[in-house]
Amino acid sequence: MSSELLALARTIAVEAGELAARRRREGVEVAATKSTIVDVVTEADREVERLIRGRILDARPNDAILGEEGGSSSGTSGLTWVVDPIDGTVNYLYGIPHYAVSIAVVEGDPDPLTWTGLHGCVLNPAVGELFSGSQGEGAFLSVAGGPDVPIHAAAPAPLELALINTGFAYAAATRAKQGEVAARLLPMVRDIRRFGTASLDLCMVANGRTNAYFERTLSPWDHAAGAIIAREAGAVVKGFGDAAPSRDFILAAEPELAALLEPVLIELGSRFEL
Ligand code: IPD
Repeated sequence: MSSELLALARTIAVEAGELAARRRREGVEVAATKSTIVDVVTEADREVERLIRGRILDARPNDAILGEEGGSSSGTSGLTWVVDPIDGTVNYLYGIPHYAVSIAVVEGDPDPLTWTGLHGCVLNPAVGELFSGSQGEGAFLSVAGGPDVPIHAAAPAPLELALINTGFAYAAATRAKQGEVAARLLPMVRDIRRFGTASLDLCMVANGRTNAYFERTLSPWDHAAGAIIAREAGAVVKGFGDAAPSRDFILAAEPELAALLEPVLIELGSRFEL
């Protein structure tokens, strides 16, 4: 059953990714704004989520679904599919080939503070990279439909040699504070990246393209699948202290660096009230 669920998630992600890429080639426009004027949704986000929901319900009618554009639908199986049809919508809008279809299967209440992540896949259709992982079974990358190759987080690195990716909220006041933290951190590390797609940020830690990633204000669908993949690749993925990752905070890094970086981020003012 375990591998069947991941296989289903991957099949759905590939079909959804083909649709997203086709709509991107045809041209994309903003359909509406959400939390702020810079938090946008395109018609493609909605259409891709409808496709994903339909495929899940056909195959798994008793499972719940939590999706970015369509909200939540309940189920009776105890499993929830957590779906971001197009993560990195702003990249998608601008034609930057760094966006993702992100699909996870979790067990328990649909709350990242308490759920158990079982399976995750994150596909960047623009470059054909499909990351996936299942609890206890490792993390893999398949390029352009090729074989699944195991991936691993980077070896331990001192803070001054760490390449760190992060992201910023859509709310201007929150962003201003995040920018201050980034400015204080920058002289202490190798460099900072802002790629614009949280699910792929986590996959970058999972295959050692960056040493650590942190962000605040993410939604569950932004991190559900990527967190499973990064963990299975040997990274720690956590919130502040003993908490699980959530809107409050997510940090993903190889364990030694995670232990170094978290107190530094707190010291630099990262734990401001949201
Ligand atoms: C956003 C991206 C971005 C992150 C934002 C997310 P969306 O998701 O993942 O990298 O910084 O917090 O909301 O809006 O493109 O699905």
